[in-house]
Amino acid sequence: MTRIRRFFIKVMDVTLHRRLLLMERAADLPMPLVTASVAVRFDRLYKEGVTDFLNFRRSESGAIRRFAPGRRGSPEDFVRDRLDAGHACLLARFEGRIVSAVWGARDLGPVPYLECNLAVGAEGVYVYDAFTDAGFRGRNIAPALATELIERFRSRGCRRVVMAVLPENQPGLRVWSKIGFKPCGRIGYWGVGRWKHHFCRSPSYRIVPV
Ligand SMILES: CC(C)(COP(=O)(O)OP(=O)(O)OC[C@H]1O[C@@H](n2cnc3c(N)ncnc32)[C@H](O)[C@@H]1OP(=O)(O)O)[C@@H](O)C(=O)NCCC(=O)NCCS
Repeated sequence: MTRIRRFFIKVMDVTLHRRLLLMERAADLPMPLVTASVAVRFDRLYKEGVTDFLNFRRSESGAIRRFAPGRRGSPEDFVRDRLDAGHACLLARFEGRIVSAVWGARDLGPVPYLECNLAVGAEGVYVYDAFTDAGFRGRNIAPALATELIERFRSRGCRRVVMAVLPENQPGLRVWSKIGFKPCGRIGYWGVGRWKHHFCRSPSYRIVPV
C-alpha cells in the first residue's frame, strides 16, 4: 500500500469513516488441518483466570485500550461482564503461560472498533478479539486455537461463523483465510464526533448500536 493511501485511511479513520471486512464460513465445513508449531495446550477462560488473562493482554503496549476503547470501569469487570453474557474465550498456553486467546459469542457480539454490536442470528457465532503474544506470532497458534473454538461451538449446534477484520490487517486476514473463511461483506460507519451512521453490507447480519 502506498504511503499516501495509508495516510488517507488514517485521516478518514480519526475523522469520518471506519470499516471492517466481514469473513464467514459454515461451521460444519471440513477444517483444514492447522497445527501450531510449538506445543501449546488449549483451555477455557473462567472468572478465576481474568487477572492472568489481562496480564497477557497488557504484554503489548496499547492492547488493553484497543481491547476496550472508551470503556469505563475496570478491565477486570469488562472481561467478567463478557463471561457473564455467555461469551466464550479460549486460551492457548505455552508452559502454563497464556500466549494466545480468541473469543466467541452466539447471536450477538461486540465490535468495539465501530462502537456497535453485530447480530449474527441464533445459529451463528461471532468470533472476535484474536490475539497472540508478539513473541509467539507466525507459529499457527491463532488459526489452531480458532479451529478448536469453532469445533466447540459446532458441537453445540452452531452452523455459521463470522468475524470482522481491518482490510489492511494482513496477519489477521491470513489467520482466517487459512481456515476457510471467505469475505462476505463490510460493516462500518460514517460519522462526526458522537453522530454515527452505521452500515452493514451483508444480507445475513445486522448492526445493533450500543
Ligand atoms: C493476527 C494474529 C492474531 C495472528 O496470530 P498468529 O498466532 O501469529 O497467527 P499465524 O501464525 O497464523 O500468523 C498469521 C500471519 O502473521 C504473519 N506473521 C508471521 N510471523 C509473524 C511475526 N513474527 N510477527 C507478526 N506477524 C507474523 C504472517 O503473515 C502469517 O501468515 P503465514 O502463516 O501465511 O505466514 C496476531 O498477529 C495478533 O495478535 N495481532 C494483533 C491483534 C490482531 O490484529 N488480531 C486480529 C484481529 S482479526
